[in-house]
Amino acid sequence: MITSIIVALGENNEIGKDGKLLCRLPADLKHFKEITWGHTVIMGRKTFESLPEGPLPNRKNIVLSRNRDLKIEGAKVYRTLNSALVYLLNENEVFIIGGAQIYEQILPIVDKIYLTKIHAVFPDADAFFPPVSMSGWKEIKRETFPADEKNPYPYSFIELAH
Ligand SMILES: NC(=O)c1ccc[n+]([C@@H]2O[C@H](COP(=O)([O-])OP(=O)(O)OC[C@H]3O[C@@H](n4cnc5c(N)ncnc54)[C@H](OP(=O)(O)O)[C@@H]3O)[C@@H](O)[C@H]2O)c1
Repeated sequence: MITSIIVALGENNEIGKDGKLLCRLPADLKHFKEITWGHTVIMGRKTFESLPEGPLPNRKNIVLSRNRDLKIEGAKVYRTLNSALVYLLNENEVFIIGGAQIYEQILPIVDKIYLTKIHAVFPDADAFFPPVSMSGWKEIKRETFPADEKNPYPYSFIELAH
């Protein structure tokens, strides 16, 4: 099983504010959908609660929460990251889709990072991606796009692997 992170972050590793994403970047939402479509996504309970329309369609949704009473229609709830990963061992690739708490815990064991770098700073952010030391990581792909009428900031789609 390949364990992959997918994340969109600003120039200061910002990922969120007030339980929401930093900005609306439709090109990144499309990119996220294309990469995760048909796969399993693992997320923290707070990220799940931030999804505007509940579980992501055509993906197996796994939510991590320590709340033993939590049940979510359309998603499977696990109490530990490890138990979720053991349950998914037979899958080809699973995607860790956030948020900050979950990224921090998975980063030491993750195989691949799909990173959207938003070329802007968001001074009010309150959730951050943990610092990634580039030693041990290879950049295997990078595409950069300018801002346009739909996407307010320039951005790069980057893939990192060991
Ligand atoms: N830019 C991006 O790509 C991106 C992606 C995703 C999220 N975000 C942003 O990130 C922010 C949310 O991040 P966050 O760190 O506050 O929350 P989070 O990581 O989404 O969720 C945290 C919750 O996950 C549960 N949890 C954490 N570790 C666990 C473990 N080991 N076992 C079981 N449950 C565990 C706990 O839920 P309980 O409290 O229920 O126990 C905890 O409160 C939002 O602003 C969101 O928009 C950004």
